[in-house]
Formats: sequence, structure tokens, C-alpha cells
Amino acid sequence: MRTPDRDAEDYDEEYRDDEDRDTLTDVPGGVRLQKVLAEAGIGSRRHCEELIGAGRVEVDGQTVRRFGARVDPEHQVIKVDGKRIPAKPGLVYLAFNKPPKVLTAMSDDRGRQTVTDYLGDRSERLFHIGRLDYDTEGLMLLTNDGELAHRLAHPSFEVAKTYLAEVTGPVPKDLGRSLQTGIELDDGVAAADRFRVIDRSGNRTLVEITLHEGRKHIVRRMLAAAGHPVSRLVRTDVGPIRLGNLKPGVSRDLTTREIGELYAAVGL
Ligand code: URA
Repeated sequence: MRTPDRDAEDYDEEYRDDEDRDTLTDVPGGVRLQKVLAEAGIGSRRHCEELIGAGRVEVDGQTVRRFGARVDPEHQVIKVDGKRIPAKPGLVYLAFNKPPKVLTAMSDDRGRQTVTDYLGDRSERLFHIGRLDYDTEGLMLLTNDGELAHRLAHPSFEVAKTYLAEVTGPVPKDLGRSLQTGIELDDGVAAADRFRVIDRSGNRTLVEITLHEGRKHIVRRMLAAAGHPVSRLVRTDVGPIRLGNLKPGVSRDLTTREIGELYAAVGL
């Protein structure tokens, strides 16, 4: 009976006969594929072996059916069901609910509270992906995966972001159309992908707006230019990641599935 946590070397003997099941070249000194999958959070080694056996695992574009294949998790692209997995050891991906009056920075020489103040003692050097204004709340992603951070922040990969905004005044019926057509700002036109009114009460309206734009203060500037200044702004989604019911000031690890979806959103 196989035990899930036995040493990887034990596999050599047992999986010799598997060699003709795919054409992937073993990486000398590499790590057993099922170990890489298990350590990336896919499941127990037994479950990972089942995925491999079912032909659901790819390494650098090739389906691998051998349990014993040795791979390089630092450099090879490993996918399960077509979604890349975070195989590199030591990578961290966090969703953080930024409270208002917190600076999007890892430190501040003026002594203001920053994101770092909420992350506890972490040894990794994390980057925040994009920025939220000092007063804006909500979802912020943090990682030490430089390539992912770079792509998510780069205009050519600009992923959609969704915000809830509390604005002044009852809003006219055609506000959504104006925002989606494009609003003239000092630095050029900005357009929303989607817009809807969530709630109206007295002289305040709660709206949801989705856009690909990354320009500074973009939501506040668009809504102010349309005649509806923002009194509160919360980011609820970044690409496939949702804020959900994460409490202000709290962070959580992204799931392996969420990380795979982020990779896919930026073509990794
Ligand atoms: N748009 C804004 O106006 N502020 C933010 O923090 C993010 C988007």
C-alpha cells in the first residue's frame, strides 16, 4: 500500500515501466511531478497521481501520464485541467481588504499607516499590485511573484476592476450610457465597461462600475466629471478575484484556482 508522504526516491523502481506513457524528458535532479502538484495545494499525492493518470496534467504544453516524471518547478509551466498552477516554491499570493486611511505602499517616511502594518511579520518581500487611493477601501492583491505583478499592473494586460461607489445626488437614467460612451477628462477620455445602480436613498446613490483603466483617481474623476462626486469608494473585484466577505484590514491566501485564473488573465 502506497503512503502519500513517502520519499520521492521510492518512486524510481515502481515507475520505471511508466516511461513509455509520455515523451516528456525528465529534468536531471528535478522534483517528482506529483510532489510539485501536492505542494502547490492541488491535493494529496494520491489525488495528484490520479490527476496525472487521467491525463489532466501538462508540463510545458505536454500531457504527462507518468507518476514518476521529474520536473523543474522553478522554470517549467505546469497546468492542471489547462490552468497553470503556482509551482515555484516560496511564492505568496494574498487578497487584502484595505481599510480607508491606509497608504498603498510597503512603508511611509511620513509615518502614515501602510499595507505592511496589516500583514504581520512576513519574511517575503511583497509587492502590491496596482494602487488604491488613501481613502479608497477594498480589494488589493499582494504577491512576491514579480512576473505576475508586472503583468497585472501593465496597461496592455489591464484586467477589469469593479468598484462600488457612493455618489451624491439621484443619478439620471442615462448616466451609465454616458460613462460607457466615455467621459472627457484632463488626460483624455475614460470609459466604463459596465455600470449599474445598486441602491438609491435620498440624496445618495450606490453605483457599481467596472473598468479596465488604471489611471490615478480614475473612478472618482469620472463620476465627478459626470456631476456625481464620490463620497465612498470600495473595490470589490480585480479580474477573477473577489473581495467577498473578507473583513477590513484582513488578508487571505488566494486559492490555487484563483492563482490559475490570474495567470490566465495575463497570459501566463
Ligand atoms: N479609482 C479611484 O478613483 N480611486 C481608486 O483608489 C481606484 C480607482
